[in-house]
Amino acid sequence: MPHPNPNGLASLVPRLAGRRVLVVGDLVADRYVLTEPARLSREAPVMVARYQTEELIPGGAANTAANLLALGAEVTPVGIVGADRNGDDLMARFSARGVDVTGIVRDEDFVTITKTRVMVGDPNRMKQQVLRIDRDPDGPPPESACEALLDRVRERLPDADAVLLSDYGYDAVSTQVFEVVQGAVGDRVLTVDSRYRISSFRGVTLATPNESEVEEALGFRLRTMEDLDRAGAMLRDRIDAPALLITRGKRGMALFTGDAPRFDIPATGSDEVTDVSGAGDTVISVATLALASGADVRDAARLANAAAGLVVMKLGAATCSSDELITAVAEGSA
Ligand SMILES: Nc1ncnc2c1ncn2[C@@H]1O[C@H](COP(=O)(O)OP(=O)(O)OP(=O)(O)O)[C@@H](O)[C@H]1O
Ligand SMILES: [Mg+2]
Repeated sequence: MPHPNPNGLASLVPRLAGRRVLVVGDLVADRYVLTEPARLSREAPVMVARYQTEELIPGGAANTAANLLALGAEVTPVGIVGADRNGDDLMARFSARGVDVTGIVRDEDFVTITKTRVMVGDPNRMKQQVLRIDRDPDGPPPESACEALLDRVRERLPDADAVLLSDYGYDAVSTQVFEVVQGAVGDRVLTVDSRYRISSFRGVTLATPNESEVEEALGFRLRTMEDLDRAGAMLRDRIDAPALLITRGKRGMALFTGDAPRFDIPATGSDEVTDVSGAGDTVISVATLALASGADVRDAARLANAAAGLVVMKLGAATCSSDELITAVAEGSA
């Protein structure tokens, strides 16, 4: 369904800049090791690749923060990293952009959540991922780090226009954190994306699970549109939220609000998809900013959908700028 006033959507974009968002969640370092193929090894039947360079890209909650920054928001990331090189590099990425990183707790006994991707390919071609090495903490963060995190949340909450919770299942967004946020957020926007515990976040303004997260939370598959309707009603009831946005990959998104029937938003820009990872982070970032700017939830969802359609055309967990977003919605593709 075309938007009755696409320019209305474009005019929203400049209003996103300057909003202050507190991002609490699991900060991830996405490291890309770029190599080119050299020869076959004589030691084993494997390829030898020559190291070119490596790059660190913010992932998880850090990708959400990067998406907010790209749209001109003022972002305060709050999370936990280890006292290691990946933690250093992640902090440096934020500091270089003028972000206040004092909300990030560094803990000697924690390891920065890191996904290292080894990419191989000729210099002028798109590289292929041949191996991913995950570095995950052994368990939840130490208690002292969790306490410190709670303090940072308490300190920084008063200055935020909106709070975004990005829970990738590594325990930064604990029950206590949620209680503290809920107790202080008042009528400000509070949004959540949670890999495994979406049902626990009662009373948020908006939740943005993908279909498989909804299936896991409710225990049934979403095979038909009737299943989707039933799931939307059930989950919204469980979390008692005014809005629920279920993201559906290349099928776009479905928004559930009030007593209104399901509102479908088809995906845009899908013919040149490069990498869908991180699209969910873009969705919650843009939706949060739009809501904090006074947009109604349908426009917020449409704008989020347009932004996600842009980042899936880019490699890795990517972001989109205000200009790119304005162009995309002005072209009417949203
Ligand atoms: N192939 C695609 N073409 C166009 N848009 C897409 C495509 N895949 C995803 N999107 C957009 O991105 C949004 C989020 O995608 P998806 O539902 O896969 O989220 P997700 O599984 O949470 O992603 P991730 O956790 O990797 O960040 C979709 O609602 C849609 O707007
Ligand atoms: Mg997701």
